[in-house]
Amino acid sequence: MDITGNTVFIPGATSGIGLALARALRDKGNTVIVGGRRSERFEQLAAEGFGTVRVDTADPASIEQAAKEVLQAYPRLNVLVTMAGIMRAEDWTRPEGFLATAESVITTNVLGPIRLIAAFIDHLRSQDDATIVTVSSGLASVPLKVTPTYNASKAAIHMLSESIRLQYAGTSVKVVELVPPSVQTELMPGQQDNEHAMPLDEFIAETMALLESQPDAKEIQTERVKFLRNAEIRGDYDHVVTVLNATDPHADK
Ligand SMILES: NC(=O)c1ccc[n+]([C@@H]2O[C@H](COP(=O)([O-])OP(=O)(O)OC[C@H]3O[C@@H](n4cnc5c(N)ncnc54)[C@H](OP(=O)(O)O)[C@@H]3O)[C@@H](O)[C@H]2O)c1
Repeated sequence: MDITGNTVFIPGATSGIGLALARALRDKGNTVIVGGRRSERFEQLAAEGFGTVRVDTADPASIEQAAKEVLQAYPRLNVLVTMAGIMRAEDWTRPEGFLATAESVITTNVLGPIRLIAAFIDHLRSQDDATIVTVSSGLASVPLKVTPTYNASKAAIHMLSESIRLQYAGTSVKVVELVPPSVQTELMPGQQDNEHAMPLDEFIAETMALLESQPDAKEIQTERVKFLRNAEIRGDYDHVVTVLNATDPHADK
């Protein structure tokens, strides 16, 4: 995608990767609308120059309402970033150890992006040049033992991205999949200080450079994520699964 001159909605930008990406895109001359549930952060975000819209992406009615608000205020919207996501540890040896968590992770991480795309696709198709940025993970390719449903949710996002890109071929809508490695954010307890995770500013700098230098890329893969993302392609998948799960349990998201 062209990284300047867009109008971008990022549901899931009240913290972490979404907020840092919002700031980087703003600095490149894009109009950016940030979304999330923590509306107490909106005053500060508005002061930074962002549009703000409250949205709970686990709630279909909230997505509908947010889409209406965004499109009314920003009729030139041409980029949707389906950033909102949660990551939870689970114990699949007993139903009370995972069922409620699994349902919640699928609702936010898989149904959320699906419903967001449903709410925006007609509008995006009406724009001359539009992009849907999906957010998967290195864990779409190699499992982290403690987060089975999270890993599966990101594998679903990867395959959805691959599939809908085929359906949008010949339309004005591009699909770009962001594949982050483990990044220092609030996603999991302790992750912000995890020395195995990539500093957020480094991740965003590399991501912006890749978006700029590879405007037609299907996937944005930082160097750090390739250990996981390309394990099967390289043929060292079993080794990577062992290394990932032998080190820090939250080592690579
Ligand atoms: N950090 C990593 O290591 C890593 C690696 C790979 C992929 N990712 C992906 O990157 C994305 C951003 O995560 P992050 O690391 O930046 O973590 P984060 O700081 O916890 O950010 C998560 C964002 O998602 C929003 N969100 C969560 N549930 C939501 C809901 N129901 N409705 C609306 N917004 C919701 C949060 O906003 P509110 O709480 O205000 O609603 C927040 O803005 C996620 O999809 C994550 O899976 C992260």
